[in-house]
Amino acid sequence: MTASNNNLLMEKLVSLCKRRGFIFPGSEIYGGLGSSWDYGPLGTELKRNVKNSWWQNVVHQRDDTVGLDSAIIMNPEIWNTSGHAAGFTDPLVECKECHERYRADQLESGTEACLKCNGPLTPPRNFNLMFKTFVGPVEDSAAQAWLRPETAQGIFVNFANTLVSTRRKPPFGIAQIGKAFRNEITPGNFTYRTREFEQMELEFFVPPEDDVAWHEYWVQERINWYLNLGITADSLRIRDHASDELAHYAKATKDIEFLFPWGWGELEGIANRTDFDLKAHSDATGQSLDYFDEVKKERIIPYVIEPSGGVDRATLAFLIDAYTEEKQENTERTVLKLDNKLAPVKVAILPLSRNEKLTPTARNIYETVRNLGIWKVEYDDSQSIGRRYRRQDEIGTPLCVTIDFDTVELDQSVTIRERDTMKQTRVSISDLVPTLQTMLA
Ligand code: GAP
Repeated sequence: MTASNNNLLMEKLVSLCKRRGFIFPGSEIYGGLGSSWDYGPLGTELKRNVKNSWWQNVVHQRDDTVGLDSAIIMNPEIWNTSGHAAGFTDPLVECKECHERYRADQLESGTEACLKCNGPLTPPRNFNLMFKTFVGPVEDSAAQAWLRPETAQGIFVNFANTLVSTRRKPPFGIAQIGKAFRNEITPGNFTYRTREFEQMELEFFVPPEDDVAWHEYWVQERINWYLNLGITADSLRIRDHASDELAHYAKATKDIEFLFPWGWGELEGIANRTDFDLKAHSDATGQSLDYFDEVKKERIIPYVIEPSGGVDRATLAFLIDAYTEEKQENTERTVLKLDNKLAPVKVAILPLSRNEKLTPTARNIYETVRNLGIWKVEYDDSQSIGRRYRRQDEIGTPLCVTIDFDTVELDQSVTIRERDTMKQTRVSISDLVPTLQTMLA
């Protein structure tokens, strides 16, 4: 695809997201706030499905992990110990004339003038990405705290409590999904880089000698998660961090990258954090953050393998990968070919028209399917059936159930229409629920 086609694809996707209620510009009626986005009704369902799939895969379907939900604002000392207060910085340069700001490491080497106005640039200075806030009514340095820039530290400081309360021993992991905040110098590319976002992080504690094997294991597990949710294999790759790009805590990191319309970009990093964090917190607090190794008969601080993904980035990648335009005989249709597990609405119940003969049966079917409590189901009897199919295609609904006059007058059967193939199958109302269950499995 050419660059202009890629821009056009993003324009179309951003427009669909707003029109259909996936993602809205944040604070829009006040003129917006740079790179801030709000998830609308369908986006909320999609994002929730992404998080639920992750939780199911990383926590519910395993014996060696547990979940956690820690506070966003923590004791500020934590960020001194973790190294973020001193080192979580990006190199910032600023145009002396128009005051446009750039990340020095994202400019081509040798760039000396502003890309906008050609004005001179300041030398780079380290800009800390953490958002400052104050706890309590007095805004002085004693009350200063930070919004967390990663959820991981909430896990490290709960390591001992979790170990004791769950009677675990490494290898075992603690998973958490939650908001993180970074005062990014150059946010952009829709929801790819924002200042407020959600992370899905697992800190997997392992015996130090097993770190390399567990690192490989988690890279493969995480790739499989994206593949099982339908991401095209050719759009994913693994990239090793070069030694000069590793975070201050990492011995090795492998990124899972996705081919976004603007090029390859990080979806998730899987880092070997060694014993850096637990050791640092143990040294700072005097609390032992280790476990007793029965074989070696000694206390050991475990190493940590950390798969850390962005909920918003994963959601965006699923949307981009699913976006499809198809030529029909005389028209075109836009289809979001989302995996069934991710689709915001699983089943749409569509009477052929709003009609007193059809409505009671259609409502009855809707309530039966909705009351199963397992799927988001939509009832829609407005506009022509063709337009309603188009809308359901555009929001990625895998199955539409149509109730027509034969349903009530002839055969007590309905038509199931499949999103991707547009194939239509007639089934009796009594078989509808098991048929939907099979088709959505
Ligand atoms: N605890 C490790 C850590 O935070 P990271 O690579 O800085 O590592 C992990 O972040 C993931 O969080 C990234 O792979 C990305 O998906 C997401 N992420 C990071 N910064 C983001 C931003 N500004 N906007 C959206 N997502 C972001």
